[in-house]
Amino acid sequence: MIFGKRSKHIVGLDIGSSAIKLVELKKKGGEFHVEKLGFSTLSSEAIVDGAVMDATLVVDTIANLISRLGVKNPNFGISISGHAVIIKRITLPVMSEDELRESIQWEAESYIPFNINEVNLSYQYLGDEQDGQNMAVLLVASKKDKVTDYTSVVTQANKTPVLVDVDAFSLQNCFEVCMGLNPSEVVALVNIGASVMNFNIMTEGQSVFWRDISFGGNQYTEAIMKELSLSFEQAEALKKGEAVGGYTVENVIPIFNSVTEELSGELRKTLDFFRSSMQQDKIDRIVLAGGCSKVVNLTGILQQKLGTPVEILNPFSAIKYDESQYDPAWVNDIGPSMAIAVGLGVREVGD
Ligand SMILES: Nc1ncnc2c1ncn2[C@@H]1O[C@H](COP(=O)(O)OP(=O)(O)OP(=O)(O)O)[C@@H](O)[C@H]1O
Ligand SMILES: [Mg+2]
Repeated sequence: MIFGKRSKHIVGLDIGSSAIKLVELKKKGGEFHVEKLGFSTLSSEAIVDGAVMDATLVVDTIANLISRLGVKNPNFGISISGHAVIIKRITLPVMSEDELRESIQWEAESYIPFNINEVNLSYQYLGDEQDGQNMAVLLVASKKDKVTDYTSVVTQANKTPVLVDVDAFSLQNCFEVCMGLNPSEVVALVNIGASVMNFNIMTEGQSVFWRDISFGGNQYTEAIMKELSLSFEQAEALKKGEAVGGYTVENVIPIFNSVTEELSGELRKTLDFFRSSMQQDKIDRIVLAGGCSKVVNLTGILQQKLGTPVEILNPFSAIKYDESQYDPAWVNDIGPSMAIAVGLGVREVGD
């Protein structure tokens, strides 16, 4: 069809430090369906501490995934996180849209620990404060060099980066589409990847607290390497259930449990900080995503230590897919680690 409607949806691409995740969704009758879904692990040297160290390897991995899945859509959405992103809810005197646009750069300077010329700024009016004098504005600053690193691997894989989001927001978009919002609940969303955990806490259906902490699956891998004298690759395989060097996953459960206790301490610190800074005592539930959410006993230990119900977000219990094309066991296995990609895949060009 020559005059067919141009597709306006975005391919969600999550460039993680341990794996690249891709999802293309299509909306049919108000519901999202999977068009393309793929996952490709990445060597631990390719992206270190959030920085692209081996761009060629990252580009090749993305390009292979695209060609293996036959992705035609040129419009890609990515997201970034970690030290290079600052998200803040700031309070400013009430002003018009034009005044805000003119003054935001200057206002932002006092909230951003980087040189203002080195960041991309975006902002959103959140609403007037109760005092009638001030208004709340969401401020997002991302370091330009990091954004360029991540967009350029997409460009080099011959696709167009039309959207650069932040992991914590993609996580929220995924949650809202897949699990729905209950405005009366306080929900802590936590995406636990290999090197970083992203927090997004929502009250009254609005996101109010964001934080990235350098803790994740790598802590488990490193503990296994140290305890059992294994290489990174061996420890990764063991973690995911393969038998390695005479060890099985059973042997690593005590190591898992002790790292999970540390993880629980990190979660507690952040949740306590949220409680005190937002003067909000209640947290109704914790929703986990990311590959690390699959660690054996994780939800049980967290639930017990934190005294809060913990569940895992699997986007594909809500999003339909063709079971003859994608094996349900595989889809459900990778599900939690696809949350960021899904949160990008529900976006459209220009929104
Ligand atoms: N079955 C499993 N059991 C335990 N850990 C797992 C399992 N599957 C994956 N992981 C761990 O999950 C982590 C990868 O998760 P994810 O794909 O969300 O991270 P990433 O996006 O690549 O990393 P980051 O966002 O931190 O850069 C790795 O540490 C990996 O070992
Ligand atoms: Mg990640």
